[in-house]
Amino acid sequence: MKLKFGSVEENVVTREEFPLEKAREVLKDEVIAVLGYGVQGPGQALNLKDNGFNVIVGQRKDSKTWDKAVADGWVPGETLFELEEACEKGTILQFLLSDAGQIALWPTVKKHLTPGKALYFSHGFGVTYKEKTGIVPPSDVDVILVAPKGSGTSLRRMFVEGRGLNSSYAIFQDGTGRAKDRVVALGIGVGSGYLFETDFYREVTSDLTGERGTLMGAIQGIFAAQYEVLRANGHTPSEAFNETVEELTQSLMPLVAENGMDWMYANCSTTAQRGALDWWKPFRDATKPVFEELYDSVKTGKEAQKSIDSNSKSDYRVKLEAELKELRDSEMWQAGATVRKLRPENN
Ligand SMILES: NC(=O)c1ccc[n+]([C@@H]2O[C@H](COP(=O)([O-])OP(=O)(O)OC[C@H]3O[C@@H](n4cnc5c(N)ncnc54)[C@H](OP(=O)(O)O)[C@@H]3O)[C@@H](O)[C@H]2O)c1
Repeated sequence: MKLKFGSVEENVVTREEFPLEKAREVLKDEVIAVLGYGVQGPGQALNLKDNGFNVIVGQRKDSKTWDKAVADGWVPGETLFELEEACEKGTILQFLLSDAGQIALWPTVKKHLTPGKALYFSHGFGVTYKEKTGIVPPSDVDVILVAPKGSGTSLRRMFVEGRGLNSSYAIFQDGTGRAKDRVVALGIGVGSGYLFETDFYREVTSDLTGERGTLMGAIQGIFAAQYEVLRANGHTPSEAFNETVEELTQSLMPLVAENGMDWMYANCSTTAQRGALDWWKPFRDATKPVFEELYDSVKTGKEAQKSIDSNSKSDYRVKLEAELKELRDSEMWQAGATVRKLRPENN
């Protein structure tokens, strides 16, 4: 259906419009092979299975991730296979390896992309940056995308709670004439609350910007800046953490999620509202040049290249863990660990 977002009309697909029964009918003869069992793989594969689809998982065996798949109930030789075997068995190949891992596995996937199959992504990365990834699908397969707008962990959690994360969907190539039905059915099948239309390029550029920006990078940067200023002015770690992070995540963001920023403001003191209304524009003006620099770095492919270079190394997980440890060990997040322990629901 067409729906107005502000004054702009967009295509969306809701569960009412495309119910689960219809999705099951569209995909009744398909074997959906979920390749990779990292963060997104488990969420999508388990939701599809619980929704009644025919799903198998492909995962390299000499890895702890294989054991995780077994622990989640996937049975070796029945529903869990080595990657190449899953590529051979699947009619829809859900390419959910890390973006760098996709480059390494591409020759194998390509070999098994026989006419009529579908190649499914949850990120426009591999296809958009084809000069860097070498991922150029054959013309007689569907190339489709469903990108849940959140972590695979949230996708699964919300599904179990009877809710649904929203996802974008896109068709890069309709090789069979069935790409639209297939992509929407898969989007509903993985547990999306609703689907909004995009294309591969817009998906990857907005996603890389968002995660480097307000969703993850910018938010940590702003937290750190405010925390450091409060600490430098004699505030204790607990006070600085509570005023920077805890109140935001526990009290204010749920209000924003429920009814928007204006509603959250309206539910704070008039002193807080006055200050927030005075200060949001200076913060926008100070950070906008950084966002422009970031978008440019995404658009020119620099961010993609950096990600490929660092995540293609065999010790990529060890290196990422070392950087995460630095965050974890920072005073702000150490203070956070103590604050979380003090929440009544954790006692
Ligand atoms: N993370 C999210 O919640 C999220 C959200 C939206 C979209 N996406 C997209 O979903 C896709 C999957 O992302 P993810 O975060 O789930 O990835 P991830 O957690 O990094 O998944 C890694 C998976 O890829 C496998 N892998 C990595 N390198 C490999 C290689 N060289 N050969 C074989 N297997 C390899 C891993 O196996 P080992 O464990 O054995 O290394 C693991 O199964 C990406 O396109 C991502 O952009 C992710």
